[in-house]
Amino acid sequence: MPVIDLTNCTGCLKCVKDCPASAITIATGAIADTCIHCGHCIAICPEATVFPDKGEIVPLHPHSVTPEDFIWFSAGIRSCRSYLAKEVPDEILMQLITNLKHCPSASNARPLQISIVRTPEKIQLLNNLTEESLIRLFSFITSPVIGGLIGLFVPKMNIAKLRSYKESFLAKRKVNNSLICHHAPAVILFHGPESRTGMLEADANIWATYLSLHAASLGLATCFIGFIVKAFGKTGKHNHHFGIPANNRIYAALLVGYPKVKYKQECSRESPDFELV
Ligand SMILES: Cc1cc2nc3c(=O)[nH]c(=O)nc-3n(C[C@H](O)[C@H](O)[C@H](O)COP(=O)(O)O)c2cc1C
Ligand code: SF4
Ligand code: SF4
Repeated sequence: MPVIDLTNCTGCLKCVKDCPASAITIATGAIADTCIHCGHCIAICPEATVFPDKGEIVPLHPHSVTPEDFIWFSAGIRSCRSYLAKEVPDEILMQLITNLKHCPSASNARPLQISIVRTPEKIQLLNNLTEESLIRLFSFITSPVIGGLIGLFVPKMNIAKLRSYKESFLAKRKVNNSLICHHAPAVILFHGPESRTGMLEADANIWATYLSLHAASLGLATCFIGFIVKAFGKTGKHNHHFGIPANNRIYAALLVGYPKVKYKQECSRESPDFELV
């Protein structure tokens, strides 16, 4: 928990008002154990007199990202499925992971752990295990009995389309051995303890999004791979291959590497509809 040094405190109450857990009694400098360790009190104190339990107080640096910069920066980011055969240096990967300390997480619980898969053998294994799991899933859903039942009870699910998707996936697999990982030089897996009540999937996708934007600022490209989450989200039986504890589940997966392709135009999709209410 942070520590308030009252010596330089002016009693401005900024920390008290910004604390989401109402944990601060400024008269005594006490912090209650309802504290969620969000660090807002450290960040807001104008006298820099609230100290983190680990590390030091780091003043924010000015930055020059204008709204227009952000619009064009995000307009240029595409999901990348074509990577150069070039490793991402360890120090860059470390930089990307270190910066995740700035991401939000539900109740600031921060339960996520990260595994970076970066040897070609392990990436191929991740690719193959995911492909096999998908093929098993498609075969199950499109089997005559299950497909028939789904047709009866979930008529909106288009079994014929799924069947043709499966056939095309199998055909492509014969000529491309990296349909999931797209020969990326690194795959970042965001995992955490299995939970029905937590918000780990939301946390993981937010962290992966921050990482993806950071990667783009370094000239790297990324791609979310929901197929890996679908294949591994419910079972931990392959976790040991990727340094993941048995009880953890994968909540987001992101390919990272140097892009082989360059884009010149924005992709001209429509903006979402909205209503002012
Ligand atoms: C949660 C999520 C899961 C995704 N899963 C996959 C995937 O498994 N394989 C893949 O090639 N692309 C995947 N994508 C990428 C989308 O297909 C892509 O974002 C979309 O087609 C728009 O293209 P863009 O990202 O280049 O703008 C995923 C994207 C998101 C956000
Ligand atoms: S770390 Fe967050 S929750 Fe804890 S006392 Fe400071 S502002 Fe409140
Ligand atoms: S923000 Fe800093 S100076 Fe203001 S009340 Fe809190 S500890 Fe004291």
